[in-house]
Amino acid sequence: MESVWRNRSVVLGVSGGVAIYKIVGLASKLTRLGAAVDVVMTPAATEFIRPLMFGSITRRRVYLDPWDMSDHRPEHIALAERPVVIVVAPATADTLAKMAHGIADNLLTSVLLATAKPVLVAPAMNTVMWNAPATRGNMALLAGRGVKAIGPVSGNLACGDVGEGRMVEVDAILREMERIILAGES
Ligand SMILES: Cc1cc2nc3c(=O)[nH]c(=O)nc-3n(C[C@H](O)[C@H](O)[C@H](O)COP(=O)(O)O)c2cc1C
Repeated sequence: MESVWRNRSVVLGVSGGVAIYKIVGLASKLTRLGAAVDVVMTPAATEFIRPLMFGSITRRRVYLDPWDMSDHRPEHIALAERPVVIVVAPATADTLAKMAHGIADNLLTSVLLATAKPVLVAPAMNTVMWNAPATRGNMALLAGRGVKAIGPVSGNLACGDVGEGRMVEVDAILREMERIILAGES
């Protein structure tokens, strides 16, 4: 499906969950397929993985700073307009809550509030967080606004539990992104 990706711009929004290590692989696959991958990390995400890792893989700048005006325009506007799709993976309970309530307190949440492009989230969290009424309510709000979600699935969780909350595998995210892009072209 290389043709879907060649010279396409995608935003990969990365929030602070353990499943972030898998997203390094997603960034690598998208880059090899020819996409221009702009990674936007939350401050919490940078506690797990340094931006240098994503920048080395995508061979592009990694976006972190909502106050950066180096292009004489706030980054969140350019990043909201450029991509064919925005993917948030892993999507933490916290970032999903901010999205559901229109909070824009970091670069990723600002991009998400400022965009009219298709948004796909891949939640990843502990089972209790996933089943919390607040998270369920936030997911329902997001679905009602057209935000697409993939997963989570049941399996081994980083906290040592087994249950629902595990992020889907990156190939499933990739396939869903392709479906969204192709649907937008038809
Ligand atoms: C070791 C560790 C692992 C975490 N894993 C997750 C996770 O998988 N999912 C989640 O929703 N939060 C997880 N958290 C909590 C988030 O990092 C925390 O809520 C943070 O504020 C999220 O910020 P962000 O949404 O801006 O990235 C984890 C925290 C720690 C310390």
